[in-house]
Amino acid sequence: MRRRRLLFSLLLVAAAGLGTAAVPPPGAARAATPAATPLDQVVPAPASVHEGGDAYTLGDRTRIRVPGGSGEAERIASSLAGLLRPATGFDLPVTTEDGRDGIVLRLGGSGTRGLGGEGYRLTSGARGVTISAARPAGLFHGVQTLRQLLPADAERQRARRAPWRVAGGTIADSPRYAYRGAMLDVSRHFFTVGQVKRYIDQLAMYKINKLHLHLSDDQGWRIAIASWPRLASYGGSTQVGGGPGGSYTKDDYREIIRYAAARYLTVVPEIDMPGHTNAALASYAPLNCNGQAPPLYTGTSVGFSSLCVPKKETYDFVDDVLRELAAMTPGRALHIGGDEAHSTSHDDYVTFMDKVQPLVAKYGKSVIGWHQLTGAHPAKGAVAQYWGYDKTGTAERTQVVDAARRGTRLILSPADRAYLDMKYDKNTPLGLSWAGYVGVQRSYDWDPGSYLDGAPAGSVLGVEAPLWSETLSTSAHIEYMAFPRLPGIAELGWSPARTHDWDDYKVRLAAQGPRWDALGIDYFRSPEVPWPAR
Ligand code: ACM
Repeated sequence: MRRRRLLFSLLLVAAAGLGTAAVPPPGAARAATPAATPLDQVVPAPASVHEGGDAYTLGDRTRIRVPGGSGEAERIASSLAGLLRPATGFDLPVTTEDGRDGIVLRLGGSGTRGLGGEGYRLTSGARGVTISAARPAGLFHGVQTLRQLLPADAERQRARRAPWRVAGGTIADSPRYAYRGAMLDVSRHFFTVGQVKRYIDQLAMYKINKLHLHLSDDQGWRIAIASWPRLASYGGSTQVGGGPGGSYTKDDYREIIRYAAARYLTVVPEIDMPGHTNAALASYAPLNCNGQAPPLYTGTSVGFSSLCVPKKETYDFVDDVLRELAAMTPGRALHIGGDEAHSTSHDDYVTFMDKVQPLVAKYGKSVIGWHQLTGAHPAKGAVAQYWGYDKTGTAERTQVVDAARRGTRLILSPADRAYLDMKYDKNTPLGLSWAGYVGVQRSYDWDPGSYLDGAPAGSVLGVEAPLWSETLSTSAHIEYMAFPRLPGIAELGWSPARTHDWDDYKVRLAAQGPRWDALGIDYFRSPEVPWPAR
């Protein structure tokens, strides 16, 4: 019996090596071959799945085909090969030769109609796996799905033995919402380009397509502006707790944009105004109504700073900042903040937004603002980011809903659901709790389409998971707060509402744990999730 099992194992390895389907052996040997991940066990849940047919097993003769070639598709293929080579030990050459065997990344073709700019179709059978899409973004998202269909060990950096199997069947998938964002606050604590890239890689795995960078706040100004150099050199010189802070040069910022774009994320830069501006006010005395620069600030209070609304210098400053930022930013949107302007009178707030929104348009961009913008006059095409929570008053909600009825579109980031910096429970060592504790189920279990009662469903552009960094200063901190909640917000943004089901989701989520272990991602092993034993 032992010999038979050994023989079957050898056959399996040989079959894998030939790149053909491993025929499941009868009886005892079956236990040696873990079942391939079913096609529907993916996060975010795919829009449509048909299981069936033979599995594909990657082997040392597997090639990655990009029929006819295409710069972007070949780049995606190369990155897939680079990802899988260390663990599989296979060469995985990328070729532009057509063929149906191996992994095929196919751009265009009749089967891709109706998938939109980000959708893809994945077909798996005995000879191979084909991912087709109308646009490269769809191929990239399909590759993220393929990663999750392979064993978690595929993410490891050292060679492993495994049957690298992909279950048979077809996935046809495209997103529910166009905007699926994550925000990183690089102001309260500064994060290096390398740390931001690491987070981008993690976001891309879950088909997040916007990276909102909160680039300025009371504690730090993090982006070089040539016409106002002290913003970065002085305003960026500290952070919460008084550490050295930091800022991005223009080249740093462009490198973040390039890295994000290669993973199909658009960077949305935020300059928060007219409040949350102490770092700017400390850097340039003339920006203050009294002409005196306040000291740098390293605490965690909010609402105490304001640009000087009546002063001409304020608009020279904003114009220069937006002009330089727009010139560096390929994305359509600039985020102008607008939250917690508690030291700006209402009339001044409205005046300020009436003057600043046209400057965004002047540089060819569209406005995103926190939802307080709806208390002013949101410009045509402006988007309001809702960050209210269960204690947000009816008047404030009604104001947002009324704006949505008048055409302002919404990004939903309810603080008691989508804020990744809220503690999971009372024992969470990091994070804040002003919006309450946000467990994994609470974070996942809501519907963006009906969340704001009365807002037209079509006004919802999407969702975003903000991560504020008052208490966070390392990548491990970021990951502990983002995982496992970020994938839930990503699923709300991507998956059709009919797939929404906590009991189903928590099982799919649990299967991500071994992937995060393989990738070295720190995460909170929430008792709400049935993680496999380590
Ligand atoms: C915010 O949390 N102040 C947008």
